Amino acid sequence: MHFLFHFTLVLSVVLTSALKTLDSKQELQNSGFGQPPPRHGLKLLVWYVQKCLDNNMLALCDPTKGEYGFHMFLNRGPRRLLPVITDKRQYRYYTIGNLHSPHAEDLPYEVRKYYNRSNPESNKDRVLVRYNNNNKHIDEIYASAHYKAKETYIIGPNLLASLRQTAAFVCIEM
Ligand SMILES: *[C@@H]1O[C@H](CO)[C@@H](O)[C@H](O)[C@H]1NC(C)=O
Repeated sequence: MHFLFHFTLVLSVVLTSALKTLDSKQELQNSGFGQPPPRHGLKLLVWYVQKCLDNNMLALCDPTKGEYGFHMFLNRGPRRLLPVITDKRQYRYYTIGNLHSPHAEDLPYEVRKYYNRSNPESNKDRVLVRYNNNNKHIDEIYASAHYKAKETYIIGPNLLASLRQTAAFVCIEM
C-alpha cells in the first residue's frame, strides 16, 4: 500500500513535468531543435517571436483566424503533450509550422525554403502557443518536433528576450 502510494506519486510527477524549459540560446542550440536545414523550426521560432508578438506578449498574428497556417491544437490523447487547460473559453493552444497548411505560404521564404514534400524532416517542427482569448495575449510558447514529448520544450523568459534581439534570420550561427 505504502509502495503503491509512492509509485502513484512518482508517476504523476513524471507525467506532469515532462517538458523541459529552454532558457538561453545555448540551451536552445544544445537541444538540437529546428536545425540544421532542412529543418525549419529555428527560423520559424525567431520569426514568430519577432513578428507575431509585441513587447507585452500581445498576439500580432491572430491564431484564431488561421493566419500563416495557425490552427487549434487539441492536446488530446492518453499522454497529453501540454498541460491540461480547464478554462477552454479563455485559453486554447494553437500550433504553427506545418508548411502544408492553408496560408502557410504566407510565412517568409526563409522559413519555407527547404520545404520538400518528400522529406518529412523539412516539415516536422512546430511552434505552439497558449492563447488567452479574453485579452489576446500569448502566455506560453513551446517549440516541438512534431509533438514528441521528448522533443518539446517550453521557451523560457530569458530565451524569449534574447530571441527578440536576435538579428532576423541570422540565428543559425548563434
Ligand atoms: C526531396 O527529398 C527527397 C527525399 O529525401 C530527396 O530524394 C530529393 O532529392 C529532395 N528534393 C530536393 C529538391 O531537395
